[in-house]
Amino acid sequence: KKGGFGRFRTRFARGVLFVVVAGAGTFIYFTQKDLYPGTQLDQDPKKKTVVVLGNGWGATSFLKQLDNEEYNVVVISPRNYFLFSPLLPSVTVGTLEARSIIQPTRFITRHKKRKVAVYEAEATDVDPINKTVTIEDNSELTASSSKVTIPYDYLVYAVGAENQTFGIKGVKEYACFLKELKDADRIRRKLLDCIETAAFAGQTEEEIERLMHMVVVGGGPTGVEYAGELHDFLIDDLRKWYPEIADKLRITLIEALPNVLPAFSKQLIQYTESTFKENKIDVLTRTMVKDVREKSVVVQDANKEIKEIPYGLLVWATGNTSREITRNLMAKLPEHQTQRRGLVVDGHMRLAGAPEIFALGDCTATSYAPTAQAASQQGTYLARTFAKMAQAEKLKEQLAEMREKAPGDDVERTVKRLNKALDLPPFHYSHQGSLAYIGSEKAIADLPFFNGNFASGGVATYLFWRSAYVSTLYSARNRTLVILDWMKVKIFGRDVSRE
Ligand code: FAD
Ligand code: NAI
Repeated sequence: KKGGFGRFRTRFARGVLFVVVAGAGTFIYFTQKDLYPGTQLDQDPKKKTVVVLGNGWGATSFLKQLDNEEYNVVVISPRNYFLFSPLLPSVTVGTLEARSIIQPTRFITRHKKRKVAVYEAEATDVDPINKTVTIEDNSELTASSSKVTIPYDYLVYAVGAENQTFGIKGVKEYACFLKELKDADRIRRKLLDCIETAAFAGQTEEEIERLMHMVVVGGGPTGVEYAGELHDFLIDDLRKWYPEIADKLRITLIEALPNVLPAFSKQLIQYTESTFKENKIDVLTRTMVKDVREKSVVVQDANKEIKEIPYGLLVWATGNTSREITRNLMAKLPEHQTQRRGLVVDGHMRLAGAPEIFALGDCTATSYAPTAQAASQQGTYLARTFAKMAQAEKLKEQLAEMREKAPGDDVERTVKRLNKALDLPPFHYSHQGSLAYIGSEKAIADLPFFNGNFASGGVATYLFWRSAYVSTLYSARNRTLVILDWMKVKIFGRDVSRE
């Protein structure tokens, strides 16, 4: 017969078992429920068609929040997944694997009430007069003329932006960008190519130095985060696996302005610059890249002197510019579209000159910074607007029927409800703060605090940065993969094999 302690031990073990089983069950439920979508309503020709261009931050947040019972939705994008861009710099050195930060768009659309058509294609033209979009399939398997024109009642335009080059010669030929998954992959392969080539027998000292010189152009958050990741790779992995050449690796960040991260507070700029100094990342401020050659960049420094800097890998991160399709759309509405920066929209995100088009995110010229935060809030706002528009449409139909039958109190009440549904508040942006990783397990954060700002930097902020991004990742699957990648790198280091 068991004594008091034995009984306690059995109960404790049962309790632990229960917690483990319940925890595992909850975990499996939340990670797997996306894999079993239910039945959906068919598309209905009587409903209005909403064409969504893009599946980035703006479009995905719109899709996720939209109640699509009243709409036939068509999603068009050249990639068939949502990319969590804030963690993209980590993919360039293998801290994270590419697939950990993407979510297939069909995982999102298969959970909507009504079926959503998803086309992996590039929109090549928008006709705001006839309300159509021309799309082109970009698969290698289709004929070159696989173009289709799709009519819309409403167009949600969220195609983002492309990389700004300022027309500088050689950028597109020789530099790597950092916007899409394929860019991060290209950087990773090119970085390892530089290192392996530098380690090859018989290389001259000069060539080794060139190959091991990694240059980043643009001291905005993209350039800073990439430089930070590169530094971690050098310290954690390169020294271990390439001891003969690791110390030849140099990182240089070139910025035209007097300091990096102009959008962050002064103390965080200083903190970042001093951390970079400690980490031996050379920061060349007031230095403008003028020309890009195959193996060197030509810069003009603060004293207006022209210098040539040899490089092995060049990453170009000098901000955004409008895509060709956006520039063409602006050219079709010259009286209304007067900003070079992007599309002009009103407070309800209706495109100036074409109110059936709603534009959001990086493709627009608004007072908000082109960030994921702004784009996703706009997507949520737009989904609410569409819900109100659907409600107003229904009430209008009801009202017409009522007026025919018997005018009275019911009509009055419906008119009031209709006016309420039509009274759409303008979009209001709520800034939740800015975060950036700067390397060596340090991050910086500018957070709104009452009416002021709270700035912090260091290892604790890095833990906050990690938890903030893990919690905003799209799905439990993404969260699991990202955490596992971090654990994997901590235990085994980054994988230095070049695919
Ligand atoms: P995107 O997310 O770029 O989506 C555009 C979509 O349009 C894509 O799906 C694309 O495939 C599609 N598309 C393109 N051309 C066409 C076409 N012709 N037809 C149809 N579809 C098309 N912001 C933050 O707030 N916090 C961060 O930490 C942060 N980190 C970042 C890190 C990096 C490396 C980068 C590059 C950006 C980062 N940003 C961050 C900025 C953020 O990613 C953008 O502001 C955000 O993606 C804008 O959302 P969007 O929907 O306008 O465009
Ligand atoms: P950016 O526009 O923020 O910065 C580009 C930098 O390049 C500028 O400081 C500019 O002065 C510099 N530059 C331009 N031409 C140059 C030249 N020829 N030579 C040298 N320097 C030159 O661009 P970035 O970093 O790509 O960011 C784009 C947007 O995405 C921003 O709105 C940013 O806030 C957002 N983002 C946010 C992140 C975060 O919050 N952690 C991370 C990455 C991007």
